[in-house]
Order: sequence, then C-alpha cells, then structure tokens
Amino acid sequence: MLLLLMVLEALWAGGNTFETHIIGGRNAVPHSRPYMVSLQKSGCHQCGGVLLNQNWVLTAAHCVTQPTQQLRLVLGLHVLGEPSPTYRIKKVVLHPKHKPVPHLENDLALLKLDGKVKPSKTIQPLALPQGRQAVAAGTRCSVAGWGLTHQPGQLAKVLQELDLRVLDTRMCNNSRFWNGTISPHMICLAADSKSQAPCKVRVLGGDSGGPVVCRRGQVAGILSFSSVECTDIFKPPVAVAVAPYMPWIKKVLRH
Ligand SMILES: *[C@@H]1O[C@H](CO)[C@@H](O)[C@H](O)[C@H]1NC(C)=O
Ligand SMILES: *[C@@H]1O[C@H](CO)[C@@H](O)[C@H](O)[C@H]1NC(C)=O
Repeated sequence: MLLLLMVLEALWAGGNTFETHIIGGRNAVPHSRPYMVSLQKSGCHQCGGVLLNQNWVLTAAHCVTQPTQQLRLVLGLHVLGEPSPTYRIKKVVLHPKHKPVPHLENDLALLKLDGKVKPSKTIQPLALPQGRQAVAAGTRCSVAGWGLTHQPGQLAKVLQELDLRVLDTRMCNNSRFWNGTISPHMICLAADSKSQAPCKVRVLGGDSGGPVVCRRGQVAGILSFSSVECTDIFKPPVAVAVAPYMPWIKKVLRH
C-alpha cells in the first residue's frame, strides 16, 4: 500500500493526470482496432476508451474526474491530431463503488455520447464479454493506446499495441508484487515474451481507460494503473476485469 501510495504520489507530482502508457509496443495496423477511443481535453489526449455501441464508451473512472464540458471523445483515430469524428459527453456514469486515486477500485466509467455513432470502416463497437467468468492466468491479451512511448517522453502519434499475458492474481497480490492492493476484479498483465526488457511491459501515461482484448472481438478489461518505475517488473500493469461488472453495464446501457 505504501509503495502504491508513493507511486501514485510520484505520478501526481509529475503531472495533473494519472495515466498509463505503452513502452516497447508496435504501431498498430491502421484502423485494425476501430473500437479505440481517444478521450481528449482541449485537443490533448488524456486516456483511452472503448466504443460499446452507438451511444456508449467504457473507460476508467479516474479518467473522468475533471469537468466533462472540456472533454471530447475522438473516434476512428489512427494518428493523434488527424481530423476524426468527435463527440461531447452527454452523461458520465461512474461505477457506484469506484474509489479514486490512490485506491482505484472498481475503476470504470460509462460515457454517453451526445450523438449516435455511425459505424464505418474505421469506427466499430467492441462486444462485451459473454459470461461473468474472470480471465484465467496465462491468457494472452493485447492492449493499445496513444500513451507515452518513452519516459520522459511524448505521447505516441500512431496507435501503439502490445501483447501481454495475464498473471496469476495471487502472485501479483503478494508482498513482492502489488502487496495486497489487488482486488478480486483486477487483472495483472505482463509482457508476452520473457526476453522483453522490463520497460517493454510498462503500460502507463495516457493508455489507461483503454481496452484489454483477450478473446478476439471482446473487451476483457480496462487498463487502470501501473508503476512509475520503468525497471520495476514487480509492479506490472493492472486492468479492471469487465465481466464481473456486466450487470451494472447492462443496467446503465438499458436506460
Ligand atoms: C506490504 O504491506 C504491508 C501492510 O500494508 C506493509 O506492512 C509492508 O511493509 C508492505 N511490504 C512491502 C514490501 O512493501
Ligand atoms: C490481495 O490482498 C489483500 C490483502 O491481503 C486482500 O484483501 C485481497 O482480497 C487480495 N486480493 C485477491 C485478489 O485475492
């Protein structure tokens, strides 16, 4: 807990947003992830998100703590800054039990767009998970985002993607790793290949809120937090699992 607090304090000190970024990823094939959303403030990318249907985007709750009048959702993007359909946020539904930084439990928010999205080649929703089962340890997943690619550094211009696998939650929660800060609905992730340098597993700074995709065509998780220390393999990126929250998501989307 102390470590997490220190990590988060360092993050707060370093900037006014708590973000997640990808280091060591690769350029995504243009528009191969047409569900990706860039949550922006005054034209600056802040967080990722995932389009669920014509009206709703799922992201991390900690991404929408600021006044929403200034936020925009940009869809169908490959390169940041390129003209793309942009929406305002009509409604924010934070998970009723979400805990803000530094606890970040139930770190999910549903954002209603101020218009209906017209699906196209570059804009398509991603399906929600079918069952309520958690993602098993060892499962291969991928994440994508426009977050920082170096530290210190700049945001990626081109959408980056990275393959990861799911770590055993009990291990991730032990004293060497996140030391008791992992709750049952969290997914810990690590680089797919053991040969990758620790920095390649960093997912921090602008990527949080973005989807974790494990089974093709379904959102398994939403990136939530990671550590600031690039070399710290014991603080792997953590996502919120989506499946356990399906009753809440369905209820919000129905109304
Ligand atoms: C883990 O957390 C416990 C209790 O919160 C604390 O006493 C301990 O020092 C922490 N261990 C490490 C390695 O940070
Ligand atoms: C992680 O450890 C904490 C403290 O021991 C515990 O409350 C929590 O339920 C654990 N998380 C999981 C997923 O078991």
